[in-house]
Amino acid sequence: MTLAYPISSLKAHPARLSPDYRSTIKRSPQKPLVIMRHTLSELTGPVYGHETVREHDRDLTIQHKSEPLGERIIVHGHVLDEDGRGVPNALIELWQANACGRYIHAVDQHPAPLDPNFTGAGRTQSDATGYYNFITIKPGAYPWGNHHNAWRPAHIHFSVFGHSFVSRLVTQMYFPGDPLFPFDPIFNSVTDEKARARMISSFDLENTRPEWALCYRFNIVLRGTNATPMETK
Ligand SMILES: [Fe+2]
Repeated sequence: MTLAYPISSLKAHPARLSPDYRSTIKRSPQKPLVIMRHTLSELTGPVYGHETVREHDRDLTIQHKSEPLGERIIVHGHVLDEDGRGVPNALIELWQANACGRYIHAVDQHPAPLDPNFTGAGRTQSDATGYYNFITIKPGAYPWGNHHNAWRPAHIHFSVFGHSFVSRLVTQMYFPGDPLFPFDPIFNSVTDEKARARMISSFDLENTRPEWALCYRFNIVLRGTNATPMETK
């Protein structure tokens, strides 16, 4: 287990200030950060009990009376550490807009319909090899008011706790070939091209379930030079 996390491993992540992503102007610190030593509890926690995550929490299509509208998809992959080893028992949480690009959230007043059969949140734990999978609906693009005619590429938000609290990653998964990539300041706040590519899932025909759902693979790397970039929030 890697318990020392070098500062250099943060280079894959976007700058805290990305002016084209307007919210970061007010959110980002104005002074240099004070680097703190990791505490023991940061390096040894969290430890989750399996009973808190139920099997159906990873299937976002069975949380209500009927199935949600939209394109059913499987999202799966491995949680890996910087050395390519699977991270077992990682708590993986996701949240997303519905097929129309609308969140169940008071602030989201995008004039697109809510789906009474879709909450848009799920969670699971990786198995002994670091593998995880979700069943969900492909989210729609949505407008977000950052600038004129600003639309977010379709994406799924992820939070992952690895070996410890300091290896927590909050990121976004995108879909291959999205025409909105060049115009999205959040996606492009990750300035390293290879790091940006790690946020894009790959179409996984082999694991598509015939007559049922397409499949996308999203491997998540926690902390290190190959880390999946952190979202700047
Ligand atoms: Fe979003």
